Amino acid sequence: MKGIILAAGKGTRLKPLTDLFPKCLLPIYDKPMIYYPLEKLVEAGINDILIITRPEEEDLFRKAVELKYKNINITYAPQYKQKGTADAINISESYAKNDNVALIFGDNIFDNSIKNAVNNFKEGAHLFLKSVQDPERYGIAEIDCEKIKSIEEKPKNPKTNLAVIGCYIYDKTVFDHVRKLKPSQRGELEITDVNNIYISNNNATYTILNNFWIDAGTFDALVTANLWTKNNRKN
Ligand code: G1P
Repeated sequence: MKGIILAAGKGTRLKPLTDLFPKCLLPIYDKPMIYYPLEKLVEAGINDILIITRPEEEDLFRKAVELKYKNINITYAPQYKQKGTADAINISESYAKNDNVALIFGDNIFDNSIKNAVNNFKEGAHLFLKSVQDPERYGIAEIDCEKIKSIEEKPKNPKTNLAVIGCYIYDKTVFDHVRKLKPSQRGELEITDVNNIYISNNNATYTILNNFWIDAGTFDALVTANLWTKNNRKN
């Protein structure tokens, strides 16, 4: 399995910090944010990782990542236009070379390991859900026992409080699925639309996370991620 980290976000909700630094290099306690998704992938046994950045920020990411991750095969790819989260899949197609992929958004910080899910993965999509207090901010899943019935992106009237976190495991059919996508109302290729294709093909499984997760894209979330990491650092 190959790992993909999407680190090309503009971080508009974190301005002016993100006028100076890429969002995913901002500090979370004592490390740059990008180390956390890297750790997740490496801990799950994934050693081939593609980091997608804005082209002008690639050198900064290289510098930060090379300080720590010397024995991992890391490749960089540019995202020239902000076309949406699912565009990461388009960008990584030639890199993945028909392998399965674990995609993590570079601003998602979470505690649970994805190792078992990676090891047990065979086909389809595997998603990670987490109950949240502000479901209108995320992709929200409706589940029925073992199955996910549907996912709604940023629903006004959420049916549940189960957010789909920014970590996804896909088989190689993901590259065909993403070609079918049309831009959403916000003009982006949405990862939720990819997930809904797997769901309608009856080919999506999930794990509910019981530990900390946060999308560190706002000032409050950044503070929460820093404090949580400070207080819960395991090593
Ligand atoms: C994206 C996804 C959303 C998901 C969230 C997790 O939202 O579209 O489904 O729940 O990441 O962080 P965005 O960060 O683009 O608002």
